[in-house]
Amino acid sequence: MMEKIINKKQNAFGAKIPEIKEVFQNTDVEKYIIQRLTEVLEYLEVTDAKQVVDVVVKSAKHYDKVANYEKNIHQLFDQKRITQRIPIKLANRAQIMFSQIKPHILGHQVLDLGCGDGKIGELISKQGRHVVLADVYENGNISNIELPFVFTKQNGKLPFEDNFFDTTLVLTVLHHSNDPVEVITEARRVTKNNGRIIVIESVYGITEYSKNLNEEAQRLANLFFDHFYNRVIHYSEFEENKVNVPFNFQTPKAWKAFFEKYGLRQIKIENLGFDQPTVPEYHTLHVLEVRK
Ligand SMILES: C[S@@+](CC[C@H](N)C(=O)[O-])C[C@H]1O[C@@H](n2cnc3c(N)ncnc32)[C@H](O)[C@@H]1O
Repeated sequence: MMEKIINKKQNAFGAKIPEIKEVFQNTDVEKYIIQRLTEVLEYLEVTDAKQVVDVVVKSAKHYDKVANYEKNIHQLFDQKRITQRIPIKLANRAQIMFSQIKPHILGHQVLDLGCGDGKIGELISKQGRHVVLADVYENGNISNIELPFVFTKQNGKLPFEDNFFDTTLVLTVLHHSNDPVEVITEARRVTKNNGRIIVIESVYGITEYSKNLNEEAQRLANLFFDHFYNRVIHYSEFEENKVNVPFNFQTPKAWKAFFEKYGLRQIKIENLGFDQPTVPEYHTLHVLEVRK
């Protein structure tokens, strides 16, 4: 069963994890959430987007228990058929991410660490590469993908030998993992010398994120939307099906220093921006060269 971190007070980098309702103590963040969430709902063709956002914000600010907010808003989104529209709008997500990483993949042996539904790995295997999927959670779609899938643990060694893979993908995984140091150290161990690790992360502290939010306010907005997408939209009453949200966000500068500390050279960074309209998180792509 996945270890859940939602009640922890600090993330892996020592930053405070506030309660969701505390995020609204910053009025700039509240305004930003209202604006972005309205845009997401309009993109999902919700006709009364403003009223729905009003209900979400009231519930997020005044819940007694966060679990009640998650459940109530999830039910509202189900009744209004909003939840059901998201997979349709997300249909080209894997293709978009594949196009982003394609120029940076090296060699034949590829590990997709934290593969989720495995669709990105599937597109890479169609290029003639050998792809291994690995995750701490078995996504319901994995059985539809004809690639080897390996269960891994939140903590501990990956079940692969040293220097096996030419390229390891860590795509929007680090902020979901309990121990990003262990994930990146293990990703490096199983990747060849001069091989690549490709990371996509949800970041904050970017000028073009929003002209009204400072660095900390952007972090709070990330926290709200990461929780909203993973715990409200993808709500589950079963503990083992709840998505791990330890909110391990960093700025691009801090990620670069982090990668370099653990023996990786960042040879390229790309600002992908808000590239997925249903999940309003700002993404960066980091191409890392393994140095051993
Ligand atoms: C946002 S999803 C991204 C899935 C996929 N990489 C993609 O971009 O479509 C994050 C994934 O990371 C996985 N994950 C979280 N912690 C992990 C860890 N320590 N090791 C491997 N996977 C992990 C989750 O189970 C989840 O499938």
